[in-house]
Amino acid sequence: MEKKYTIFITGANRGIGLAMVKEALKNNFFVIASFRDSSKIEPLQSIKSENLLTFKLDVTSEQSINNVKNKINRKIDFLICNAGINNGYGSFNSEDHSQEKILEVFNVNIVGPILTARNLINKINEKGKIIFISSIMGVQNHEGSRATAYRASKAAVNNLMISISNDLKPKGITVVAFHPGWVRTDMGGPNANLTPEESASCLIKNFLKLNINDSGRLFNYDGSIMEF
Ligand SMILES: NC(=O)c1ccc[n+]([C@@H]2O[C@H](COP(=O)([O-])OP(=O)(O)OC[C@H]3O[C@@H](n4cnc5c(N)ncnc54)[C@H](OP(=O)(O)O)[C@@H]3O)[C@@H](O)[C@H]2O)c1
Repeated sequence: MEKKYTIFITGANRGIGLAMVKEALKNNFFVIASFRDSSKIEPLQSIKSENLLTFKLDVTSEQSINNVKNKINRKIDFLICNAGINNGYGSFNSEDHSQEKILEVFNVNIVGPILTARNLINKINEKGKIIFISSIMGVQNHEGSRATAYRASKAAVNNLMISISNDLKPKGITVVAFHPGWVRTDMGGPNANLTPEESASCLIKNFLKLNINDSGRLFNYDGSIMEF
């Protein structure tokens, strides 16, 4: 019988995270979906499946991550650090790049995935995979100056992925990052060229192809390797 994998997705109440939940269920995964804000979970709650568990989790709070860790009694095959924000689309000297906003982006996008991986590591199955949802905007030679803090945060995600992959490779745990494409979500906006469903369908398919030799790589959503 086909193995039922367990996938844990942060930021799963909307956007790419929610689409990954639906796609994973279609692909016979057991899904642990986490959300930050209980007032925004109707789309997630409306999914009826015996293969879905939902939990409130803020990636910037270790206590919140540990609360969930203590409630789950199964090992995770795929940990997807998807939660992220971009609250500054301007450049470094725009109003939306106040110190407070820069720190918020760094806290959610950089500190968040480290805390998530750190606190859930004992729940990862042998041969498990940790996948950081990064962005092409974090690739050093990507043209553009806008969203300065967001770009820096995703460059950091690519870098922390390398450190964590080096730590976990000897244990057989694969650690990679994925660019999900430019996706029509609240973050990606209405002009993006992919629907969340198109992105999620490619992502889940390519997650299933990963093995330890991929550790330390950044992939595009279509499975091609990206230089960063
Ligand atoms: N859309 C694109 O074109 C695109 C391109 C490249 C990379 N990405 C990356 O893909 C990921 C998903 O993006 P998206 O487009 O789906 O964005 P989105 O629609 O804005 O959704 C972001 C998700 O992250 C959650 N989140 C934010 N802060 C959190 C926190 N502190 N703790 C837990 N959850 C938190 C949000 O929860 P709330 O509902 O509570 O706010 C929401 O569920 C992000 O990492 C993003 O940087 C997106």
